[in-house]
Amino acid sequence: MTLRIRPSGQACGAEATGIDLTQPLSADLVAEVRAAWLQHKVLSFPDQRLSDDDLERFTRAFGGFGDDPFIAPIEGRNNIIAVERKAEEKAPLFAENWHTDWSFQAAPPAGTCLFGITVPPVGGDTLFANQQLAWQALPAETQAKYRDLIAIHSAKTAYAPEGMYGKEDQTTDRSMKIMPSDAALALQTHPLVQAHPETGELGFFSCLGYIVGIEGYSEQDAFSLLSELRTWQGRDEFVYTHKWQPNMLVMWDNRALLHRATGGHEGYDRLLHRTTIRAYSPR
Ligand SMILES: [Fe+2]
Repeated sequence: MTLRIRPSGQACGAEATGIDLTQPLSADLVAEVRAAWLQHKVLSFPDQRLSDDDLERFTRAFGGFGDDPFIAPIEGRNNIIAVERKAEEKAPLFAENWHTDWSFQAAPPAGTCLFGITVPPVGGDTLFANQQLAWQALPAETQAKYRDLIAIHSAKTAYAPEGMYGKEDQTTDRSMKIMPSDAALALQTHPLVQAHPETGELGFFSCLGYIVGIEGYSEQDAFSLLSELRTWQGRDEFVYTHKWQPNMLVMWDNRALLHRATGGHEGYDRLLHRTTIRAYSPR
């Protein structure tokens, strides 16, 4: 197999071909894919007819599974969730705000793998915002303002009983198996600006949403700083718009990106299977 990488020409993202993910990958090929992933941050692999076993084997090759709270796994699997929406579904769109997957965990997942099974012919793009570019594009004095801040993360605005996907959401027609819980109220701190654990590049980690405060700041001051920053973090010049195809696997680097879902696929079923790749630890 000869891996070919075609950059998107946008702020990040590349397509990877010449590789068959239904087969076990050699250590050399895994290293090649990993290097391309770190460089481009989002890799898409079109025309891969993956089974759930294949998706799991791929995830293991890149570090093994993360811990996925608040969403029930699909039947018979512990580490795969279904990102699903029915054609007629009226519940608010899932994951429409910028976020970094599970950034409220003590050791958030390094990456996420998402495999398109039923892909609508229109809409449903996934947007990725390159947070290393967002950092680099700031003037030094603005960087200094953010450099040493400690962000307080929580899942509460999403998955607590009073959160976006809480008690009230359970009364909607949502297809996804969300399990709100008081566990979402827990707080976890992370530096707002972090060196990537594998490349050393600085970037913003996560944003307002899972970030609910800043150490030493009043709630109001933290909110206004984070709101202003989120507008910057999601600027068009940092964004790659990913267009899905059926049988396409996408893997992205949570340590370098924000991402969000978009709609526009009303009237069409949509189904993707997702795994997370656990936090990186050097061997
Ligand atoms: Fe997400």
